[in-house]
Amino acid sequence: KKPEPTIIFIFGGSGDLNQRKLTPALYNLWMDGLMPGQFAIVGTGRTDYSDEKFREHLLNGINEFSRRKDDQNGSWEKFAQSISYLRMDVDNPADYEGIATIISNYETSWKVSAHVLFYLAVAPQLVPEIATNLNKLTKAKDILRSRIVVEKPFGHDLKSAQELNKLLTNLFDEGQIYRIDHYLGKETVQNILALRFANALFEPIWNRNYIDHVQITAAETVGVEDRGGYYERSGALRDMVQNHILQLLCMVAMEAPVSFEADEIRNKKSDVLNAIRKIKKEEVQRYAVRGQYSSGWIQGQQEKAYREEKGVAPNSNVDTFAAVKFYIDNWRWQGVPFYVRTGKYLTEKTTLITIQFKEAPKYAFPPEATETWRANRLTISIQPEEDIRLLFQAKRPGQTMSLNPVNMVFSYADSYHEPQPEAYETLLLDALMGNPTQFMRGDQVEVAWEVIEPILDTWENRPPVDFPNYAPGTWGPEDAEALIAREGRNWITLPPKRKGKE
Ligand code: BG6
Repeated sequence: KKPEPTIIFIFGGSGDLNQRKLTPALYNLWMDGLMPGQFAIVGTGRTDYSDEKFREHLLNGINEFSRRKDDQNGSWEKFAQSISYLRMDVDNPADYEGIATIISNYETSWKVSAHVLFYLAVAPQLVPEIATNLNKLTKAKDILRSRIVVEKPFGHDLKSAQELNKLLTNLFDEGQIYRIDHYLGKETVQNILALRFANALFEPIWNRNYIDHVQITAAETVGVEDRGGYYERSGALRDMVQNHILQLLCMVAMEAPVSFEADEIRNKKSDVLNAIRKIKKEEVQRYAVRGQYSSGWIQGQQEKAYREEKGVAPNSNVDTFAAVKFYIDNWRWQGVPFYVRTGKYLTEKTTLITIQFKEAPKYAFPPEATETWRANRLTISIQPEEDIRLLFQAKRPGQTMSLNPVNMVFSYADSYHEPQPEAYETLLLDALMGNPTQFMRGDQVEVAWEVIEPILDTWENRPPVDFPNYAPGTWGPEDAEALIAREGRNWITLPPKRKGKE
């Protein structure tokens, strides 16, 4: 089944996200034959572009960032015929008339009533204005089949997210609003549902009786790059934990859905978010750690401290690293800590989920056999490595009983040879098809803010005394090690494949 004829308006069309992700995703969908039979892509922005220049700018993006480059067989040329550019000021209501004209022109030439997808890849403060104007437009022109995709950050805190939800739901039905979290479009993330619920093996042990704790690491090796201005209003907790990491946590912790209906999946995730124990302000220091990178060397390159980055205040207290311990107060997860961490300029680029099982009883084996014993664990590598490993004990061949941990590995590269869609391809196709399952519902976003709000407030009211507190290329501040080590555990980093034997 293909999506209905659709006109896609990309607000922030001249921006980075469109060039790097959105247009490449649409191009790949088109090359895979998944775009609607009739479609148009209209970038809007303040920059002055002719259609021709705009297409050139996007082609550069395809050649630099897309999984599939221009094949030089005229494919891009053909695809680009559907792309145009509309210069507009989003705060000028009159400029929205241009959108109405474009819609009616396409409808006339296609001889159908088209669906319209408005993709808001703009600074968050512009969203209310654009949404309000679009609502007026769609109502006035009777454009009923419109959908609006809103990029993160969705609000700045609980209050602003509530206000934004209120505004958007006054203007559009919840079913028309697509709050995007690109992590949910990643194949390895979607596979968590398959792993958990399409196999009989894991679900019976997926609970506090067998699981000691869960870890989620989302580590990056880059700094804030040229996004200092944005990051100053965000920080690691807002940028990664409130959305991506909590969504991963939901995938790991949710109950089995009764069906794959959008609201069923989203209800089950909301249940998890609602069950996360609210950290009390006086507990924040024990449950959460923040960090900010200093200057330092990575692979022969001297990197700037966060406070020296462009757009960053020289005395900034913004976190570029955050680690938190969460508990989920429900039957399944009572007492099982979920340790999460994320940061810029860490040792390695890796997103990893670890399910650490409890120890098996060791008593029957002679002590020397169990020296390298490790409790079972399941490691789900989300990126860049894409695999799932189950660590278990084996008997080392030989005349003595000696045990050591080995891995059973499922690797995407070994099992599947066809190229994978990128997260934005999957999510854009969902939005074109009208399937909101992998998008955030308003209530989820709000609860996610509620979960981190005590930490945000406490951090804001108690400026850090030790910033900057970690060097580029490390695993973040020492307090993050202490957070987990004082409970006799440790952060799990690399899957053994790349490190050699454990
Ligand atoms: C974005 C954050 O949402 O996710 C960035 O704003 C971060 O700061 C990025 O770098 C990470 O995404 P990915 O897909 O590269 O892990």
